[in-house]
Amino acid sequence: MKQAPRILVLNGPNLNLLGVREPDIYGSQTLADVGKRCRDVAKTLGLAVDCKQSNCEGELVEWIQKSRKTHSGIVINAAAYSHTSVAIMDALKLSDLPIIEVHISNVHAREEFRHYSYVSAIADGVICGLGIEGYEYAIQHLSKLIKSPNRK
Ligand code: DQA
Repeated sequence: MKQAPRILVLNGPNLNLLGVREPDIYGSQTLADVGKRCRDVAKTLGLAVDCKQSNCEGELVEWIQKSRKTHSGIVINAAAYSHTSVAIMDALKLSDLPIIEVHISNVHAREEFRHYSYVSAIADGVICGLGIEGYEYAIQHLSKLIKSPNRK
């Protein structure tokens, strides 16, 4: 039987504390809840999901590099690294995979330093301000991109 295409869901620094961290901004659900939602929606679309989180930029870069050979698309919430990391942007670009960026909060309604994202500059799409539901929408859209015959 053909194996289901795999989506890599990456979360950056401090998102391991989802549910505890500023619940007025990020809500009360945990990263484990995000993982479950992602796996559930992926299953309905015939996709498999690997969820990973790191507080270290280099580890995220290494996972992105490896995903070139193992995954069909990436959902990434690079958290604070979105606003600072050329290294993560370069790795994502190199991967040549479809990429959807997610932010739980509406970064554009927050401090100015959150308005620019290096990831947005190379992502196929960006979802922000929809809470953790954003991850589900990202997987749904990736599914369309992966199945599209016109995919780059
Ligand atoms: C975030 C927004 C970032 O500005 C912030 O540094 C985060 C989380 C979000 O999901 O809304 O850590 O990416």
